[in-house]
Amino acid sequence: MSKQDSKFFNVFSLVLGILIVITLVLFAFARSVGKNTQSAHLLTEPKYVAAVEQNITAAKVAVAGQDNSALAIQPLAGVAAAVASALPTDGAGVYETVCSACHLNGIGGAPHSGNKADWAPRIAQGTATLYKHAIEGYKGKNGYMPPKGGRADLTDDLVKAAVDHMVAKVQ
Ligand code: HEC
Repeated sequence: MSKQDSKFFNVFSLVLGILIVITLVLFAFARSVGKNTQSAHLLTEPKYVAAVEQNITAAKVAVAGQDNSALAIQPLAGVAAAVASALPTDGAGVYETVCSACHLNGIGGAPHSGNKADWAPRIAQGTATLYKHAIEGYKGKNGYMPPKGGRADLTDDLVKAAVDHMVAKVQ
């Protein structure tokens, strides 16, 4: 190989190397931009929204069939609304937007809010147990109480306030 050839070869390799590095940087950059924007886009995608709508409808049908009361549809609509709604700020608000979905009509074996007979044995366990069960969730003989009523974004204090609100209804 002549001296000139090897010089050309070196420069050529260098340029090739730089182009490869630029390609990788652009690729990584595009990925990181996509990560932040693509999922947000997906949520407004009409097909995606329609699919969610369909899933919710299916859930309504399943629960209505199991419970066979037309009322059962209302609380589930409430669950969907609760998920979409902003974070409530006090016990009554948490109860209205989250807990009432099950506790208003005793969906899935939940103790009816306002029903003394349903609540007396539970209150007898002590407030600490009620708080613990409401925050961490638990499986009882009547059914399954999801942690924080399914709203993991609620603070422990808000869940406790909602428990106090329900307990106050039967006292
Ligand atoms: C998806 C339905 C559902 C939602 C939403 C829900 N609960 Fe419950 N909850 C239940 C069921 C079912 C039980 C009864 C479980 C059992 O004892 O078998 C229960 C029981 C309880 C109890 C009694 C615990 C005990 O030890 O006896 C408390 C307190 C309670 N829920 C608080 C709440 C609070 C506060 C919220 C809102 C943040 C909430 N629940 C939302 C279904 C729900």
